[in-house]
Amino acid sequence: MLEAHVLLYAAVLVALSPYLLRDSAAHKTTDPSEVNALSAVRSRLIDPTNSLKTWNSGDPCSSNWRGVFCYNTTNDGYLHIQKLQLLKLNLSGSLAPELGLLSHLKILDFMWNNLTGSIPKEIGNITSLHLLLLNGNQLSGFLPEEIGNLSNLNRLQIDENQISGPIPKSFANLRSVKHLHMNNNSLSGQIPPELSVLPVFHLLVDNNNLSGNLPLEFSEMPNLKILQLDNNNFSGTSIPTSYGNISSLLKLSLRNCSLQGSVPDLSRVPQLGYLDLSRNQLNGPIPTNKLSTNITTIILSHNSLNGTIPANFSGLPNLQILSLDNNRLDGSVPSTIWNDMTFVGNKSLTLDFQNNSLANIPNAFNPPANVTVLLYGNPVCTNAQESIIQFCQPQNVEQASESPTNSTRSCPSCPTDRDYERNPNSPMPCSCAVPLGVGFRLKSPGISDFPPYIKAFEIDLTSLLDLFLYQLYIEQYMWESGPRLNMHLKLFPSNTSLFNETEVMRLQGVLAAWEITLSDVFGPYELLNFTLGSYEIPGSSASGLSKGALVGILMGAIAGAIILSATVTVLIVRRNWKYRTISKRSSLSKFSIKIDGVKRFTFEEMATATNNFSDSTQVGQGGYGKVYKGVLADRTLVAIKRAEEGSLQGSKEFCTEIELLSRLHHRNLVSLVGYCDDSDEQMLVYEFLPNGSLRDHLSAKATEPLNFAMRLHIALGSAKGILYLHTEADPPIFHRDIKASNILLDSKFVAKVADFGLSRLAPVPDVEGVLPGYVSTVVKGTPGYLDPEYFLTHKLTDKSDVYSLGVVFLELLTGMKPIVHGKNIVREVTMACQSGKMFEIIDSNMSFYPSECVEKFLSLALKCCREETDSRPSMSEVVRELESIWRMVPDANVYPSEYSEISSNKMSKSSSTSLMIENPFTSSDPSGSDHVDNNIPSATVAPR
Ligand SMILES: *[C@@H]1O[C@H](CO)[C@@H](O)[C@H](O)[C@H]1NC(C)=O
Ligand SMILES: *[C@@H]1O[C@H](CO)[C@@H](O)[C@H](O)[C@H]1NC(C)=O
Ligand SMILES: *[C@@H]1O[C@H](CO)[C@@H](O)[C@H](O)[C@H]1NC(C)=O
Ligand SMILES: *[C@@H]1O[C@H](CO)[C@@H](O)[C@H](O)[C@H]1NC(C)=O
Ligand SMILES: *[C@@H]1O[C@H](CO)[C@@H](O)[C@H](O)[C@H]1NC(C)=O
Repeated sequence: MLEAHVLLYAAVLVALSPYLLRDSAAHKTTDPSEVNALSAVRSRLIDPTNSLKTWNSGDPCSSNWRGVFCYNTTNDGYLHIQKLQLLKLNLSGSLAPELGLLSHLKILDFMWNNLTGSIPKEIGNITSLHLLLLNGNQLSGFLPEEIGNLSNLNRLQIDENQISGPIPKSFANLRSVKHLHMNNNSLSGQIPPELSVLPVFHLLVDNNNLSGNLPLEFSEMPNLKILQLDNNNFSGTSIPTSYGNISSLLKLSLRNCSLQGSVPDLSRVPQLGYLDLSRNQLNGPIPTNKLSTNITTIILSHNSLNGTIPANFSGLPNLQILSLDNNRLDGSVPSTIWNDMTFVGNKSLTLDFQNNSLANIPNAFNPPANVTVLLYGNPVCTNAQESIIQFCQPQNVEQASESPTNSTRSCPSCPTDRDYERNPNSPMPCSCAVPLGVGFRLKSPGISDFPPYIKAFEIDLTSLLDLFLYQLYIEQYMWESGPRLNMHLKLFPSNTSLFNETEVMRLQGVLAAWEITLSDVFGPYELLNFTLGSYEIPGSSASGLSKGALVGILMGAIAGAIILSATVTVLIVRRNWKYRTISKRSSLSKFSIKIDGVKRFTFEEMATATNNFSDSTQVGQGGYGKVYKGVLADRTLVAIKRAEEGSLQGSKEFCTEIELLSRLHHRNLVSLVGYCDDSDEQMLVYEFLPNGSLRDHLSAKATEPLNFAMRLHIALGSAKGILYLHTEADPPIFHRDIKASNILLDSKFVAKVADFGLSRLAPVPDVEGVLPGYVSTVVKGTPGYLDPEYFLTHKLTDKSDVYSLGVVFLELLTGMKPIVHGKNIVREVTMACQSGKMFEIIDSNMSFYPSECVEKFLSLALKCCREETDSRPSMSEVVRELESIWRMVPDANVYPSEYSEISSNKMSKSSSTSLMIENPFTSSDPSGSDHVDNNIPSATVAPR
């Protein structure tokens, strides 16, 4: 079996006798001093996965040692090593000083291994070196002065190690260097002003222990595009005003550097795109001159800036984030910033003004839907009118993250060989091929929100790689600290199912040698890994690969993650991705998917059911669109959710979502009856629940108030439905928008959670194969129900749903809405309990209730609403606790007789009591109805 795999790849790749090699006719061999050097290098390395097996015999150049690439021409009768590329091979041990003897080397690449020890000073002897790539190891010690001798060096990457000591002044002799990446180490001392003579484009030294000041001389750097120094300590010094003269500057990032003084005037930097000066001690006013129209990101938060917000933030068409929160700004909330912007596609703007002293707001303050304005913590929010309450919720917005879809369910499956995958972008639907997987990261992007730039990125990268646009598929992306943008890309062959070997070598060579440069707005990239199908090809030569393939199968770490992400089909649905949407929609009928258990309706059927979507049949309006009550031809009542123009998805994404929903069956979830995906319309058809939403029954207008037992029963049912989403759905689903209006009641007042299909789907294994315990997302949801920790951290967990459900519990107990006139239910109830007035806030519509049960229920609700995620109970603990309260309810006297009709057909299920409502424990029996089923329509599964 394994051998079959290897053979397959052998067919594709073994012939990889790279152009770099091998003049066997002349029987040339490698320069003996280089052979000796390699063997010394080898002896210092620990190679647990035996990646360097090919190094055990033969000649390095003519026997194709893994990662060793040689010049194909030679003048002195010997072959010389040109590249040593040992990217991500799990190597540990240290770097041998003999590396310095590889005197013809252009590329020295040990990225993403686990090397320790220090960088040998002898590397400074390799004056031919162009790329020195040692990032992502555990190297320590000081930087050798001798590195400064590398006068041909174009790129120095030593980031993500533990290197300490100062940046040597001798680096000023790196007179060809364009890229200096030294971030995430422990470098200390003053940044040498001498570096200002370098032609460097990207100077990344963030996350070190540098001190001293920001060199004035940097204002004279001729090419400097990115200066990123976040998280250092230039204690008490200020930002030189002369930085406003660095005319090549595109990005200035000085977050958390202990800087004082004022914000420099950067209005004369013609193409400045990204500015982050947050978390310093800057004071005084914000300069009033207008910044470049290229700017996407302005982050000045967490300083001591005062004065008013100047008008100069208007007329910046590319702005994505303006973050001025946590300063001392006063005056009025600006209302013109978005005036000149056009919000096409998925472009959006976030204005974060939280925690300032803004006291006025213009009349009729009405930003468009794509603009988020955050005013929490300003005087305008105290006693705010209803009209601006929506802007007064606390939120953290500094990083948004969203992953694109990964869905391959709707075509017949690819050949069973697991490395075949469908190219989601292929013009030929359902074409299968073995893709190249590329771990790719934007190290210092000039944007804060990726979706509006995805297409530009795809066009840029494919044209640089000389590929067709449809050959690239962005399988996943996520923001990481930095912020950096981590992506997993798939490159598919064009018109064939396998790349030929030259193409594999070409793509790998181009990416691993930084032969391409992305558009400025994306900044520098890094290559994290490179795989063919599930096999990693780390700087390999041909023979290295097939051996590596075996290792790949056996070790499978990265491969596993990739296979997982392909087959688990976890997808976070990307909405509004217009360009994909268009192509998918037009080819929809060709996909024509059959999804078991749900019915596909035509547009005509839907129109008939709703009397042409007449207003009289509209029963609600949600984020997704309008909700209609419909009658199907067979007289079944249904609720039809009709997507609004803006929330339409690609047909395939839509179908994927439906397929997922169709497999969810639980008595406490609203069941999906069918869908309609027809003539530019997308609709979801659900069972109709005659008793409406919980919110309707809690409002003061409710004619028949719910009694305590019914409320408890609704709480328990809701918790069980959500627990099912968290634990039984595959992939797990976090609801994200639990609220009283999303909990519907059937004719017997059994709670059914609605709208879970529109929620974000839960954790995807990340590129490194680790299943994150949370999903980092753009904050969505409904004010009043939102987990405060989710605001701050952006980490969406199962506990975020626990919080929202806790708020629903408080509503059940008090009848209050989560927010009324700026009063938050959690705070109000907490205060009442603390001052011993607990029973005063209990809903007076409940004429009587067992006080011990109410106390326990209330205490559970408040636990769910605790600020710290960790101190909230889990959903399964919530269910358990509610069950135990339910057992305490004295059944005889709490059920008024008007609900007795409920009891008749429920009695059979409840064992011994006279409950009118079905005893909820009976359905907690694992053999009960709570299961996922692929085939059986929900109606036959979910017992009523
Ligand atoms: C050597 O390699 C270069 C590309 O690096 C190629 O253009 C050239 O034809 C090769 N020469 C020989 C003799 O193979
Ligand atoms: C790297 O090496 C260190 C020390 O030798 C070890 O503790 C760690 O587990 C290794 N990490 C990896 C990813 O191999
Ligand atoms: C290589 O570097 C070492 C130390 O930096 C130096 O002593 C030695 O002379 C160099 N060797 C050559 C051949 O340049
Ligand atoms: C702003 O702060 C600076 C320094 O902290 C102070 O000198 C100045 O008076 C303040 N200006 C206003 C308008 O409060
Ligand atoms: C800045 O904007 C101009 C005009 O839109 C554009 O041509 C240029 O490429 C932009 N520069 C960067 C670095 O994005």
